[in-house]
Amino acid sequence: TPLTQDALKTLVGRAALHYVEDGSIVGVGTGSTVNQFIDALAGLKERIRGAVSSSEASTQRLRALGIPVLEAGEVRSLPVYIDGADEIDERGYMVKGGGAALTREKIVAALAERFVCIADESKLVKALGAFPLPVEVIPMAAAQITRRFGQLGGAAQLRLKDGQPLVTDNGQHILDVTGLVITDPLAFESEVNQWPGVVTVGVFAHQKASVCLLGTAQGVRTLA
Ligand code: A5P
Repeated sequence: TPLTQDALKTLVGRAALHYVEDGSIVGVGTGSTVNQFIDALAGLKERIRGAVSSSEASTQRLRALGIPVLEAGEVRSLPVYIDGADEIDERGYMVKGGGAALTREKIVAALAERFVCIADESKLVKALGAFPLPVEVIPMAAAQITRRFGQLGGAAQLRLKDGQPLVTDNGQHILDVTGLVITDPLAFESEVNQWPGVVTVGVFAHQKASVCLLGTAQGVRTLA
């Protein structure tokens, strides 16, 4: 029988343990795939110093399993950051932010020497853009940023939660942008980062994955 998507997430979550160095502090992302990694990491907790987390949700899960969580400001560098993605291409460029944690994810990833992406094979794409692109924005800029995406052929929608604008861990809003085809992720990320009021664009190109562990029916496929 084929492995379910959940089983693939468990598989790559466990495979990521291979990238955790003894005595190190581990950068930890956010999402259902990372949750599988966190659960597996609990089995190694005596061998690591702790984690730096990219969201309140991951922090809670780490602490509940007895893994110490340090502030990002307390560390100068991390050997590895492990996180999922909403889309990844063969070059390691990603779209992230489906879980609304993109800003802290980019901050923690920036501390890491290596970004190990863990994902089931449904996340692998030829070109980024089919998944609605998350962009964290300062609320007063949301309307002008929406118009700018419109000029690029994109339709931006304010993300809601329980009928109200979703508020991120940083107190800001998220736009989800459909209709974009992101052929040059590096240029696109640089461009959107310049727009006033953009906190973080969910394209991870300047901080792409160094390694991707892709869960497939045949097992873990490593893209590096
Ligand atoms: C969180 O903000 C995202 O960047 C996640 O990495 C992404 O949504 C992957 O989540 P799943 O592992 O649940 O698909």
